Amino acid sequence: MATVPVLKVEHLQKSFGKFQALKDINLDLQPGEVLGFIGPNGAGKSTTIRTILGLIKAFSGTVKVFGKNAWSDAVAIHQQLAYVPGDVYLWPNLTGGQTIDLLLKLSHQKHNARTDELIKEFELDVTKKNRTYSKGNRQKVALIAALSTDVPLYIFDEPTSGLDPLNEQIFQNAVEKLKQAGKSVLLSSHILSEVEKMGDKIAIIRQGTIIETGTLASMQHLTRNQVSVITKQPLTDLDQVTGIHQLTLQNNQLEANFTLDSDATTDVMNYLAQHQIVHLKTTPPTLDNLFLRYYEDNGKSGDTK
Ligand SMILES: Nc1ncnc2c1ncn2[C@@H]1O[C@H](COP(=O)(O)OP(=O)(O)O)[C@@H](O)[C@H]1O
Ligand SMILES: [Mg+2]
Repeated sequence: MATVPVLKVEHLQKSFGKFQALKDINLDLQPGEVLGFIGPNGAGKSTTIRTILGLIKAFSGTVKVFGKNAWSDAVAIHQQLAYVPGDVYLWPNLTGGQTIDLLLKLSHQKHNARTDELIKEFELDVTKKNRTYSKGNRQKVALIAALSTDVPLYIFDEPTSGLDPLNEQIFQNAVEKLKQAGKSVLLSSHILSEVEKMGDKIAIIRQGTIIETGTLASMQHLTRNQVSVITKQPLTDLDQVTGIHQLTLQNNQLEANFTLDSDATTDVMNYLAQHQIVHLKTTPPTLDNLFLRYYEDNGKSGDTK
């Protein structure tokens, strides 16, 4: 028996007046999967998520959550999901602790052991009023409530945009726990490396269209690191080493710049070490680089930015 997808979006379109924000959105999330939904600011991530939540109505296409219609079955759907928006607004006069409990109550859940665990992990002072919180702390309040909710589906819209790296790590661990518990997660971000660590699958959105979707492994070609290296001995046959792309050599072949397939890292580093590394810098792919490369590789034109 085929399982019903947790989320299925097909050819979703949405316009605001004359502006078409969503042109062709296709997403597929199965039970137990984490789907990273990435794209630059303004690409249409939040609009897609609001459509999934039934907050706005699709112009055309289908949006199904647990096999139900996102717009007409919103009540039933919302009992089975937890959502944290990109901008968290909270009751200014309630404390963080009161807010967490209220958010849980509103979704028919109770403050539980996991709630306490998360409050501790995120080091949130729950006695402070919401109006005194920074963006990051407001985000923590919403995240703690959502993460300690027991539902099959979690939707996070740019959840770590206000968090520092330490708290980002705590969030990542919490998502890992959800995954281990067989939950499904939709996670949007404009930073590739954020989603890369957590997502089983990634869908890339650009100007209202999903331009690439699949497993991380199948997108290895999109996630090459940029490497700059200076060596003592000339890198004469570096172009023969597999896994190296866009190679340029300078300074009598003592200086090289290239992009590197992640699965070739060990071989390439061994090769470089044999030529005595003086300086080495690797940079993870940024979303912008990725888009540029995507369009170069596909030979498409006239639409790179
Ligand atoms: N209610 C709205 N009315 C008009 N335009 C909107 C509305 N909501 C979003 N947009 C536009 O739709 C595009 C996609 O926005 P959004 O989904 O928020 O992008 P993202 O979340 O990827 O940054 C943007 O150009 C934005 O200005
Ligand atoms: Mg957004």
